[in-house]
Amino acid sequence: MGLMGCSITTCLLMAGHPVIGIAPIELDLQFAEPRIKDHLQRSTEEGLINDPITFYLRDLTITTDYSQLAACALVIECTLEDLVIKKSVYEKIEAVIKSDTLLTSNTSAIPISILQKETQVPARFFGLHWMEPSHTTRFLEIIFGDLSDPSLGQYLYEVSQGWGKEPTLVRKDIRGFITNRLMYALYREAFFLVENGYATVEDVDRACRNVPGYWMTLVGPFRWMDLTGVPAYHTVMKDLFPTLNNSTEVPKLIDDIVKAGGKGVANAHGFHDYTPEEAKLWEETYKEFSYEIRKLALKYPADVVTKKLNNEQ
Ligand SMILES: NC(=O)c1ccc[n+]([C@@H]2O[C@H](COP(=O)([O-])OP(=O)(O)OC[C@H]3O[C@@H](n4cnc5c(N)ncnc54)[C@H](O)[C@@H]3O)[C@@H](O)[C@H]2O)c1
Repeated sequence: MGLMGCSITTCLLMAGHPVIGIAPIELDLQFAEPRIKDHLQRSTEEGLINDPITFYLRDLTITTDYSQLAACALVIECTLEDLVIKKSVYEKIEAVIKSDTLLTSNTSAIPISILQKETQVPARFFGLHWMEPSHTTRFLEIIFGDLSDPSLGQYLYEVSQGWGKEPTLVRKDIRGFITNRLMYALYREAFFLVENGYATVEDVDRACRNVPGYWMTLVGPFRWMDLTGVPAYHTVMKDLFPTLNNSTEVPKLIDDIVKAGGKGVANAHGFHDYTPEEAKLWEETYKEFSYEIRKLALKYPADVVTKKLNNEQ
């Protein structure tokens, strides 16, 4: 029950599900419940939920005892991004869960086909990739491994809509799934521009906020090209694609920061300079923004135009 385990738990409690959270390390026992209470408190203030917090907490059990998972229909593994740890956790989970319980992983990047081979029943294993903070974000990727049963994936797709998600299916396993592949293509180009002196970190950040940042909550790249005229993209691609960065090395800029212990706002040492106070304020501002952007996203769901047409008839 780390960072994501807590926000996923909050999401499921808000959707009306009982949740059993496994707390394998001391820090979880200390921080998980206060963190979930804090999410519920903020969600109440933002109008996401109406019942008292105690109403949701009645459905929450935090325990070190894996055997309590025997009662669950769905298990979401949310441990560290480490194959050995994940494998040991699957062994403990599968020793107690029912034969028809679904087992999923919130892995960011380990291929689902690799993870599912570490389980006893690969057909019931899927990637369930959430975005932090999971109780406000609409994103959820459901990823099929080579051995996953597609009908169970379809079931997850349907059931997750009741959790306030707008899910996407990744029908064939691929490293990075959909969003990380898209985002890392952008990160790679961002490093290229900065490391080769075309722009500063500040300017790349500003450009991203003001171009994709303006339309991406409403549409994805394909609808965006439809909206702004497809042929122009066709023309630009011919000349621009050969010049884009295709390096397979980790960029020096990030390597230097990580080797010097930089973690970003978590320790006020990242691509930008921060005083500890500024770093804390960035964290709080992102939290505040995540509730605001959610309101906008809810106003413009994927089927916004279909809904408008139906209302007019
Ligand atoms: N942080 C994000 O924004 C994000 C986004 C998408 C996916 N993920 C993925 O979610 C997973 C968890 O990430 P997080 O950011 O919540 O990490 P975290 O460090 O906050 O939490 C990790 C949790 O793993 C568990 N754990 C630690 N050591 C363990 C052990 N030896 N055995 C069993 N359990 C152990 C504990 O419950 C701990 O709280 C990772 O696979 C990560 O890649 C994270």
